[in-house]
Amino acid sequence: MYYPFVRKALFQLDPERAHELTFRQLSRLSGSPFEFLIRQSVPSKPVTCMGLNFKNPLGLAAGLDKNGECIDAFGAMGFGFVEVGTVTPRAQDGNPKPRMFRVVEAEGIINRMGFNNHGVDNLVNNVKKSHFGGVLGINIGKNKDTPVENGKDDYLICMEKVYPYAGYIAINISSPNTPGLRTLQYGEALDDLLGSIKNKQLELQQRHQKYVPVAVKIAPDLSQEELIQIADSLVRHNMDGVIATNTTLERNLVAGLNYGDEAGGLSGRPVQMQSTQIIRMLSAELKGAMPIIGVGGIDSLTSAREKMAAGASLIQIYSGFIYHGPQLIKNILMHI
Ligand SMILES: Cc1cc2nc3c(=O)[nH]c(=O)nc-3n(C[C@H](O)[C@H](O)[C@H](O)COP(=O)(O)O)c2cc1C
Repeated sequence: MYYPFVRKALFQLDPERAHELTFRQLSRLSGSPFEFLIRQSVPSKPVTCMGLNFKNPLGLAAGLDKNGECIDAFGAMGFGFVEVGTVTPRAQDGNPKPRMFRVVEAEGIINRMGFNNHGVDNLVNNVKKSHFGGVLGINIGKNKDTPVENGKDDYLICMEKVYPYAGYIAINISSPNTPGLRTLQYGEALDDLLGSIKNKQLELQQRHQKYVPVAVKIAPDLSQEELIQIADSLVRHNMDGVIATNTTLERNLVAGLNYGDEAGGLSGRPVQMQSTQIIRMLSAELKGAMPIIGVGGIDSLTSAREKMAAGASLIQIYSGFIYHGPQLIKNILMHI
């Protein structure tokens, strides 16, 4: 109800400053007598996916709560699941600021954050303190200074640490802001990575006596041929799900707009069609072998339905949430 006013104030500020301020307020409100200011009741729309029970199919996408600082607050707003991260083995600063830009006319965001995060141990500590009743996804990546040929080690380190606390683990090989990361999406590098991840998952299953599904997050900037190869590799290595998509390097839909030529990954409405198309192709290729988590430009009930019609079993939002606030969660869940 009051988000249009909050947004107006926040949009006066630099995007990262607005983010920090909002997180500070959310941490204060969460668990306090004033939590009612952020809590909203949403209809229950249970879904089972990757062997997990979700209260509803709408989640918060990775990158907003990189360190797991506000999990309970996002739970209170009605998300059925929250994906925290991307987290790396060691804390890192990310790229120099400014590194996040609103392309307001297109309801887009361009970011080149570069996995700024406090490290996996800090994230685990925060997760341990949370009381979230939904499914918690933990999204993992590699440190910038780890050579890409050793990138696998970083994913395995993070898996070890987050496994006991995760509802599912998301493997991020699709951020455009860590040099070389996206090369892990192709050919032998992908096979090698997924093979090691599967082995580690089975080893951890034995050790912890619980099975934690693993989903792989892919880019929208893939040709049909590349997508077919990725789908084949995901199936061969028995992955539990695929998250489509991350941000795009494409700039067609923001050309000439304010900040439209900033370097980084573009998200929000400009990536909507592209990511839906990837989901559609992926769905045709996977033929139900594993569920798809659809993300990219969802900003309304209609665009949420489009993702599901294209083949997504679960959906996530990030940019739409920045532009439309918690009301978007309710609008989607009331009618989906
Ligand atoms: C500022 C920003 C930071 C992001 N950081 C991450 C990240 O750390 N890990 C990740 O997997 N995706 C990250 N993403 C991508 C989102 O999770 C999502 O895949 C993408 O933005 C498309 O969804 P949207 O159009 O709803 O924003 C980030 C997106 C934005 C806008």
